[in-house]
Amino acid sequence: PPPLLLLSRHLYPTAARRLPQAIIIGVRKCGTRALLEMLYLHPMIQKAAGEVHFFDRDENYNRGLEWYRMKMPHSYAGQITIEKSPSYFVTPEVPERIRAMNASIKLLLIVREPVTRAISDYTQLRAHAATASPVSPTPPPKTFEQLSLLPNGSINEAYRPLAISVYHNYVHRWLEVFPREQILIVNGDLLIEDPVPQLQKIEKFLGLEPRIGNHNFYFNETKGFYCLRNETSGRCLRETKGRRHPRVDPIIIAKLRKYYGEHNQKFYELIGEDLGWPE
Ligand code: A3P
Repeated sequence: PPPLLLLSRHLYPTAARRLPQAIIIGVRKCGTRALLEMLYLHPMIQKAAGEVHFFDRDENYNRGLEWYRMKMPHSYAGQITIEKSPSYFVTPEVPERIRAMNASIKLLLIVREPVTRAISDYTQLRAHAATASPVSPTPPPKTFEQLSLLPNGSINEAYRPLAISVYHNYVHRWLEVFPREQILIVNGDLLIEDPVPQLQKIEKFLGLEPRIGNHNFYFNETKGFYCLRNETSGRCLRETKGRRHPRVDPIIIAKLRKYYGEHNQKFYELIGEDLGWPE
């Protein structure tokens, strides 16, 4: 090839689709979308569009790694590609499948206080049911209280939004497959209140230069959440992120907090960190 072509190839390294070097594995409703969008403020991060669901859905997994790679965005060498699929956290096969792809991958696990997470999950399921219902007018939805308690007054542990908040039931599998240092636990409640310190921890964890700062955020009073700003514009997450939660009977909240107390302790022991959730 003419020397100029060689030179230009050297000066302009080509972008390519690369397998992710970091994955947000969950937990659903803990701020997985916010986390991915916030990390994308960093110039060395590229994010996959949507949720890829490669490792948790057999029909995707069976398509192989090349299919997965093609779902990834273009990136330059040195950039970090990230995807998020919150159901990875709760799907038993996933840790081993991710390890088989890349045993040194970095994993981000974002969690929230379990009762808040359960109510957020309930709120989303109710919103989806309302739009999907063929019956019009839709029958009144069951309340969170009705779904969370059995007729005898004990906690309905089989109710999915409550079960997913028992984090230790899932995290132990990840810790059996990955060394603790490869998993960063992100506090989703703190990410809502004050995102920058959380993001700075993640930059360190990912080995990135500190680039995300207060200049990247502004608080939107109407939304009640921080919105994101880059060089050119500002934007909030969609209205499905930051939904108004229904009022839940404080007696039920107290009962659930007590229930999660013991589960949270088990979670803290497994991860070697105390998140200080109220009991
Ligand atoms: P709520 O809608 O219940 O408030 P996920 O993306 O995993 O589904 O998580 C959704 C949650 O992200 C929202 O739950 C919201 O609390 C949280 N979140 C965190 N930071 C946010 C932000 N800056 N804007 C909107 N929602 C944010």
